[in-house]
Amino acid sequence: MAKCTIDGREVEFVAGTNLIEVAAKAGIEIPYFCYHPGLSIVAQCRMCAVEIEKMPKLQTACSTPATEGMVVKTRSDRVRQNQKSVMEFLLINHPLDCPICDKSGECDLQDQSFKYGDPYMRYTEERRTYLDLDMGPVIKKNMNRCIHCTRCIRFGTEVAGIHEMVAVQRGSNTEITTVDGRPLETDYAGNYSDVCPTGSLTLKDFRFRKRAWFLKKTPTVCEGCSRGCNMEIHQDANVIYRCLPRTNMEVNKYWLCDEGRFNYHYVNQEDRIVLPTLQAGESYQPTDWNQAIDQAKAVFNGKKLAILVGTDLTNEEAIQLQTFLPKQFGNAPVFHFGTPGIASTQDDAPADQILKRKSRTSNLNGFEKLGFKGFESLPAGIEAVLVIRGGRAEIPKFAAGVKVVGLGVFHTAENPGFEVVLPGTSFAEKDGTIVNFEGREQKLKRSINPRGQCKQLPEILMMWMNRGMSAGVAS
Ligand code: SF4
Ligand code: SF4
Ligand code: FES
Repeated sequence: MAKCTIDGREVEFVAGTNLIEVAAKAGIEIPYFCYHPGLSIVAQCRMCAVEIEKMPKLQTACSTPATEGMVVKTRSDRVRQNQKSVMEFLLINHPLDCPICDKSGECDLQDQSFKYGDPYMRYTEERRTYLDLDMGPVIKKNMNRCIHCTRCIRFGTEVAGIHEMVAVQRGSNTEITTVDGRPLETDYAGNYSDVCPTGSLTLKDFRFRKRAWFLKKTPTVCEGCSRGCNMEIHQDANVIYRCLPRTNMEVNKYWLCDEGRFNYHYVNQEDRIVLPTLQAGESYQPTDWNQAIDQAKAVFNGKKLAILVGTDLTNEEAIQLQTFLPKQFGNAPVFHFGTPGIASTQDDAPADQILKRKSRTSNLNGFEKLGFKGFESLPAGIEAVLVIRGGRAEIPKFAAGVKVVGLGVFHTAENPGFEVVLPGTSFAEKDGTIVNFEGREQKLKRSINPRGQCKQLPEILMMWMNRGMSAGVAS
């Protein structure tokens, strides 16, 4: 392998790798702003400039590939002086409003300023300010904090495939904005906030809700579609505040779509049924677990039953059901369900050119591999249905008169008209594995405790079995 020397240390590298990445692998930090590994290199901010032997001027590490025998200094006086000057320049117009900025605590500009900036500034003139234009429902813009790194513009054109962010005016009047001040259109707008190294583009969803340093992070997988993008859930005191992408070059690279990013809301939602519940007329009445299970069995008693299992459940849950269902319900037909019109992996396909898939649940492939059949319609004569789901599988419409019991995650606003609901856990409240459309098995990790009296599926199945004999369904 080729070798170069960085700060006196011999470092190996793969040909073509830039100095920022080569140094990072060796544990040497070169500060940067405009560079992002998922975007083209523009070498605009000059923060990453380093000294390279035999080159008279400082060179930008982001745009310089390492070469055999290269000797690089990242901490020399010249490099330090450049870093201080760049920081001073970038902060000339910055409002220094970290105490009220949502990016505070995880802001590259804040961190680099502490590490590489100078506490003194020579600028005494009035600061430049911009008007805040509305950018739509996802992103809040505050361009007074912008350092014109153009990461957002490049994300739009290179990843989201839409040229909606632009730089208008020139020189010190340069402003980053949307074309004609229009709201953002992409379904991947949340990534603008992730790529922005300052608090100029923040998530409206997260705005003023929690300081970043209070959040506990759990690595897990998005359940929004069959791609299974890698993400982190950020929670505090058992409340989820946001989901951010986790880099996986083989699945989602650095990105998440907005649907997956904001999908977590149903977990926290006020109207989620978190107690065992019986239907009472138009509304639901909380009860205890024993009564709810007895009532569910009474609903099924003597009826022809079908069972629908959501492809938003894990492989482990599916396997447990494969043992439990025949024991309890004999030959009652069992189907998987999730997305209308997608009864098998054959029906699944890309929903756009970026990440999204047509199957809007995460484990269609896993269920198919385990031998479950896809739901298309209820067999003739079915009088009762047991619907088991994780929270995202779309509940089909059943004919009037069919009695339905729900096991899992349901909301009153969905108005499922269920006789009984046995509340279960969402993707954020359990561990397990799911299989994405390419056959990649990935791990869901529990990030919060189940809300209310929601229980894990094995616990509910155990309670069901302990409440006497099988439901006595008709075959
Ligand atoms: S808004 Fe953020 S990402 Fe865009 S140019 Fe400004 S600092 Fe860079
Ligand atoms: S593409 Fe699918 S898996 Fe990825 S973030 Fe969006 S919904 Fe989630
Ligand atoms: S990161 Fe190299 S110039 Fe901006």
